[in-house]
Amino acid sequence: MGITLVRGDITVQQVDAIVNAADPTLLGGGGVDGAIHRAAGPRLLEECRTLGGCPTGEARITSAYRLPARFVIHTVGPVWNGGAEGEPELLAACYGSVMKLAAEHGLASLALPSISTGAYGFPIARAVPIAVGTVAGLLAAPGAGSTLSEVRFVCFSAGVFDAYERELQARGFELDTPP
Ligand code: APR
Repeated sequence: MGITLVRGDITVQQVDAIVNAADPTLLGGGGVDGAIHRAAGPRLLEECRTLGGCPTGEARITSAYRLPARFVIHTVGPVWNGGAEGEPELLAACYGSVMKLAAEHGLASLALPSISTGAYGFPIARAVPIAVGTVAGLLAAPGAGSTLSEVRFVCFSAGVFDAYERELQARGFELDTPP
């Protein structure tokens, strides 16, 4: 299956884990973070409170409660500050941390939002090659994403979807339609 691309809401994706673009407290927020907490219900926040936060570039896993997914993997993207303060490396680290947790938990399918490209201001044109390049590289590396058979990029807006579609096609991906 490999990489798939959908336009839509990550909270309804029928995958093993959906990824949340969280903030370092892991105590909820707006954007995709707010949507995931609203859909998962209050027990997600209760579990997040036990985690003690998450540094930028790292990821933590919780149950998904009322969501159709089994798990939520929370990662904290970098706030864009011009690009010379390690933002690209930290964004790549988010995708790497997420894929590592997915492999450690033997997950077969994962849905990813466009991390840091909303409130955190990371330019789409810079973020998309990092997201696609990191995920594609890890899927191709032996062992790294070994159990993952599907990584689904879920884009909420048309502009983000188009950017991912262009990047994936430029890299020669035949875009599967998810089940
Ligand atoms: N499904 C999929 N993608 C979504 C959804 C959704 N339901 N809602 C928003 N998005 C998209 C946005 O359109 C954007 O492309 O997720 C991407 C990330 O945007 P944000 O949610 O603003 O995340 P980010 O830029 O990483 O900022 C994180 O915002 O909500 C707070 O607590 C959060 O402090 C953290 C910060």
